[in-house]
Amino acid sequence: MQKDIRAGFPFFPANPGIVYLDSAATSLKPQGVIDALTKYNARESVNIHRGVYRLSQRATDTVETVRKKAAEFVSDAAESTAVFTKGTTDSFNLLAHTLTSAKSDIKDFFPAYTSAKPAAILLSDSEHHANIVPWQIFAAERGYKIFFIPVDGDGNFAPPENFLEDISASHTVRIISLSLQSNVTGIIHDLAPYRTFAAETGAVFIIDAAQAVIHAPETIKALNPDFVCYSAHKLFGATGVGVLVGRKPVLDNCDVYQGGGGMIALVEREKSTYLEAPAKFEAGTQAVGEIYAFGAALDFAGENQSAIHSTDNDLRHYADERLQAAGIRVFGLSAKSRSPIYSFEIPGVHAHDTGTLLDEQDICVRAGHHCCQLLMRSLGVPATARASFLFYNTRDDVDRLIDGIGYVKKIFRK
Ligand code: ALA
Repeated sequence: MQKDIRAGFPFFPANPGIVYLDSAATSLKPQGVIDALTKYNARESVNIHRGVYRLSQRATDTVETVRKKAAEFVSDAAESTAVFTKGTTDSFNLLAHTLTSAKSDIKDFFPAYTSAKPAAILLSDSEHHANIVPWQIFAAERGYKIFFIPVDGDGNFAPPENFLEDISASHTVRIISLSLQSNVTGIIHDLAPYRTFAAETGAVFIIDAAQAVIHAPETIKALNPDFVCYSAHKLFGATGVGVLVGRKPVLDNCDVYQGGGGMIALVEREKSTYLEAPAKFEAGTQAVGEIYAFGAALDFAGENQSAIHSTDNDLRHYADERLQAAGIRVFGLSAKSRSPIYSFEIPGVHAHDTGTLLDEQDICVRAGHHCCQLLMRSLGVPATARASFLFYNTRDDVDRLIDGIGYVKKIFRK
């Protein structure tokens, strides 16, 4: 079956012999996605929301259809919509601004905003920098304190007893923003207790779905988050576009992020008024071709969801066993729920050397801190090598990785 799957990805014939194990950084693109991007650029490259002519209206309809699909992919909530952004990072910058802005009027949706206690944001030490730094930029200046759920040496959440109660004694958590799946360890965290806490206390509950969107979209839906951020390019789509999914009535009450064309109702010399969401957050021309491709990517991911799931399971069991027997340190194996993203350390070998020597054998892995310096500290390492598998990978790719690790160990005499 994998053979048929690979036939749909031009990457493989273009790079014979290459073992691509970096899908957590970006997934490969199937032919249908490439065709959709080309279709726009070659045949329909007109702007949207502006033209009265039929071609522009058709392109606008296509983009609006993708918007609906992108929201429905991660949310069953009534009134959900998707704001197009540049990607997960951009979505978090938008959220960090608007959810801490005094101009957002969202206390009717989130009663935590009515508390007189000092306001707080809850993140975890497992977060990607995209879900840390934007909050830090606004937190101090707007009087928010940030708390972090600690993580153990294997990457699991490890909050002390009464963690949430202790925070609540001095602060009101207004915002909880957590990654469902770690880009470093592949762990799918149990966010249910934090979702329940948010519902009980009236806090905003946000999921960073950059990784989980491809491996666990149903879990995202089941958690019924207030906002979800994800990028197209880790879901078979093109780079440069992603979404912030949330309920329209909430977004309508959120402060605008960037100003410009396409987001205004009326511009006067003294002030402007804005359109409703999602348009009020979409200043300037959108990445229209990439949105076309996003639509094809969502269709492809939807059609292949069960194949992705079963390949995840098969590769995880096979790779767990083989990596554990390889005499290396693999992070995250103790977690209850994971998909096949492996961070590992060959004792005595720097992750960058591991990555370079694997590359010599045509094996592509990522090496470094993976934009997760807090997590690296919890794991007790400066960096790891990371092999991330997706449904076009095979057991042969696992075997090639194991052979590659053997080669690195031989070179370093480990
Ligand atoms: N966040 C992406 C990764 O984990 C780029 O590699």
